[in-house]
Amino acid sequence: MSLPSHVKIVEVGPRDGLQNEKQVVPTETKIELINRLADAGVRVIEATSFVSPKWVPQMGDNSAVMAGITRHPAAVYPVLTPNLQGFDAAVAAGATEVAIFGAASEAFSKKNINCSIAESLKRFEPVVSAASALEIKIRGYVSCVVGCPYEGAVAPEQAASVAKTLYDMGCYEVSLGDTIGVGNPASIQRVIEACARVVPIEKLAGHYHDTYGMAIANIYASLQLGMAVFDASIAGLGGCPYAKGASGNIATEDVVYLLQGLGIETGIDLAKLAVIGDWISSAINRPNGAKAGRALCASAA
Ligand code: HMG
Ligand code: MG
Repeated sequence: MSLPSHVKIVEVGPRDGLQNEKQVVPTETKIELINRLADAGVRVIEATSFVSPKWVPQMGDNSAVMAGITRHPAAVYPVLTPNLQGFDAAVAAGATEVAIFGAASEAFSKKNINCSIAESLKRFEPVVSAASALEIKIRGYVSCVVGCPYEGAVAPEQAASVAKTLYDMGCYEVSLGDTIGVGNPASIQRVIEACARVVPIEKLAGHYHDTYGMAIANIYASLQLGMAVFDASIAGLGGCPYAKGASGNIATEDVVYLLQGLGIETGIDLAKLAVIGDWISSAINRPNGAKAGRALCASAA
C-alpha cells in the first residue's frame, strides 16, 4: 500500500458549511473566513454558490462575497453554478473556476436542483461549453454516491455513470459526495473502485459528510486506493439543506492532522487552521466540530 505524498484540500466551509446555517451569516464574516483560510495556506476555497436565492438564501450575497475577498495569487475560489444563469452571474462576479453538481439518485436530484439526473446533465452542457469558451475550469460533483435521504442505498455503478458523464463532458475533476455521511470504508472503497474504472483516480475527489462519524476513516480508505483530493469544511461546518439531519463535511483541521501524521504534504498551516476554526465557530455561535482543532486550541491555551 503506498499513500499519495501530497494531497489537495478543497475547502468547502464557506459554501457547503455556511449554506446550511439557520441565520444568514454576515457577508463580512464570510469574507474574513475566506481570507484567513488563504492566509493559512489553503489553495482551493469554494467561496459561494450562484444558485437561486429563493432556494438557498444563505448564499444570496454571492457577488458581494466575490467582490470583497482579497484574492491570494496562488489560490483559486471556485463557486457552484447549477445552470447558465448562475454561470453568467458567477463570471460577472469574477469567478475563474466553477462547479456543476449532479446526483446519483433521482429523488435527490429533484429535491436539490428540481430536475431529473438526465435533465441536469443536459442543463450542464451549455455551462460546460460556456466555461470552456472562457477557459474557466469546471469541476463536477456527484451527490449521494453511497446513499440518498429519500431512496436509501445507491449502487456504485449509478454513481460511476454520472461521474463518467461529468468527466467526459469536460470536468477536470469529479468530487464524489457522500452527502448524508452514511458511507463506511467498505462502501466508499466500492464506489471509488467503480468510479475509477471509468474516470482516472487522480481526477476523483472525496467529499464526505461526517454524519455517522465515518468520514475520517473514509478518507484513509480513499488514500489507500490512491485518491489524493479531499473536500473538507473548516470546523466541520455545514450539512445540506436538502438532506435533513446530515451533518457537515469532515473538518479540515481533522483531515490535515491525519495527513500530517501520515507524512502527507498539504501546504496548510494546521495551527492557523485550528485558530480559524475556533474563531468562525464562535462568530456564528455554534460548537467547533473539529476534534483536532479543539484539542490544538486547548493545548495552546
Ligand atoms: P428552478 O425553480 O427549477 O429554476 O430551480 P427555474 O429555471 O425554473 O427558475 C425559477 C426562478 O429561479 C427564476 O426566478 C429564475 O430567475 C431563478 P423568478 O422568475 O421566479 O423570479 N433562478 C436563479 N436565480 C439565481 N441564480 C440562479 C438561478 N437559476 C434560476 N442560478 C435551481 C432550479 C437549480 C435554480 C434551484 O433548484 C436551485 O437554486 N437549487 C439550489 C440547490 C443548492 O444550492 N443546493 C445546495 C448545494 S449542493 C450540495 O450541497 C451538495 C454538494 O455539497 C455535494 C454533496 O455533499 O453531495 C455539492
Ligand atoms: Mg456537500
